[in-house]
Amino acid sequence: MADASSTSASPGMLLLLAVLLLASAGAASGTLSSMFYEASCPKAYDIVRRVIQDARVTDPRIPASLIRLHFHDCFVQGCDGSLLLDDDLPAIHSEKNVPGNENSARGFPVVDSIKAALENSCPGIVSCADILALAAEISVELAGGPRWSVLLGRRDGTTTSIEGAKNLPSPFDPLDKLQEKFRLFNLDDTDLVALQGAHTFGRVQCQFTRENCTAWQPQCALENLDQATPDVFDNKYYDNLLYGHAQLQSDQVMLSDPTAAVTTAPIVHRFSGNQQDFFRNFAASMIKMGNISPLTGRDGEIRKNCRRINTKGY
Ligand code: HEM
Ligand SMILES: *[C@@H]1O[C@H](CO)[C@@H](O)[C@H](O)[C@H]1NC(C)=O
Repeated sequence: MADASSTSASPGMLLLLAVLLLASAGAASGTLSSMFYEASCPKAYDIVRRVIQDARVTDPRIPASLIRLHFHDCFVQGCDGSLLLDDDLPAIHSEKNVPGNENSARGFPVVDSIKAALENSCPGIVSCADILALAAEISVELAGGPRWSVLLGRRDGTTTSIEGAKNLPSPFDPLDKLQEKFRLFNLDDTDLVALQGAHTFGRVQCQFTRENCTAWQPQCALENLDQATPDVFDNKYYDNLLYGHAQLQSDQVMLSDPTAAVTTAPIVHRFSGNQQDFFRNFAASMIKMGNISPLTGRDGEIRKNCRRINTKGY
C-alpha cells in the first residue's frame, strides 16, 4: 500500500518540484556561475589573460588599474559595465567624468583590446562587466596574489549613474563613512579591510596622499601606493599601516580612527601577520563585490563595444 502510493505520487511530485526549483532558480536573478562561458567561449579566460600579459610589459601598472575599474563599476548600480560607457548625450552621461574617476580611472584602452580579442573569437558572447571581473582576478594573480574562481554571467547595462559615481568612496572619507558606503552593498568590516588591501599595488597622485604634494611636485605627480613592494600583490600594505605609512588617509583610518580598535584594527593586524589569511579573505570579498546586483538572464545586453550601448537603428 505504502509502496504503491509513493510510486504513483512521486513522478508527478518530482516533476512539480523540478519545475518549481527551475522557476525559482530562474527568478533568482544574480545567479552567476564560474562555468558560464564553458560552452560558448571556452577560451575567454586565456584570451583576457594574454591581452593583460602583453599590456603589462610596457605598463607594469596595468593590473592595478584594471582591478580598480571592477571596483568602480560594481559600486555604481552594480557590476554592469556602466563605468565603461563614454559620453553619448543626451542619453548617456559618462561616469568617467566624476571626480573619483576623471584623470584617475585608467586602463580603458586595454579593456577595448580585450573586448576586440573576445569579439574575434566568440562574437556577442562575453559582456564588458564580465571582462572587468575576469581582468581583476587575472591582474591579482599576475602580480603574485591569490587565485579564485571568477563567477560569470553578468550582462551589460544600458544606463549610467552620475549620482552613484559621485558617491564612490573618497580618500578623505572618515572610517564611519567608508563603513557606511561598503555596508550599502552588504560589505562588512572584514571586506573593507581586505579590499583596501588592493592598495598593495598601483599608483596615487600626490594630491590625494596624506602628505600632499611637495612645493615642486605637480598635483598629478605619481607615487607608489605601496612603497615597500610597488607592483607585487602581497600583505606588505598592512605592515605599512602598522608603521603609520599608508599613502591615503582612507587607508590609515582603519588603524588610527578612535573606533578602529574594536572594528577594523584587529583585522589589519591579522592580515599583516598572515598573508594566507589575507589572500583567502581578499578572494572571498572580491567574489562578494562581484556579486553586487548583476544583470542576468534577459536583462541588459552584451555590448559589442564596451564604450557604447548597442542602440538599435542608430
Ligand atoms: C575604501 C575605499 C577606497 C578609497 C577611498 C580608494 C581611493 C583610491 C585613490 C584616491 C586612489 C588613487 C587614485 C589617483 O591617484 O588617481 C586609488 C587607487 C587604487 N585603488 Fe583604491 N580606494 C578604495 C578602495 C579600493 C578597492 C576596494 C580596490 C580594489 C579592490 C581599490 C584598488 C585600487 C588600486 C589597485 C589603485 C591603483 C590604481 C592605478 O594605479 O591605476 N581601491 N584608490
Ligand atoms: C594640498 O595642497 C594644495 C596646494 O597647496 C591645497 O590646495 C590642497 O587643499 C591640499 N590638499 C589637502 C588634502 O590638504
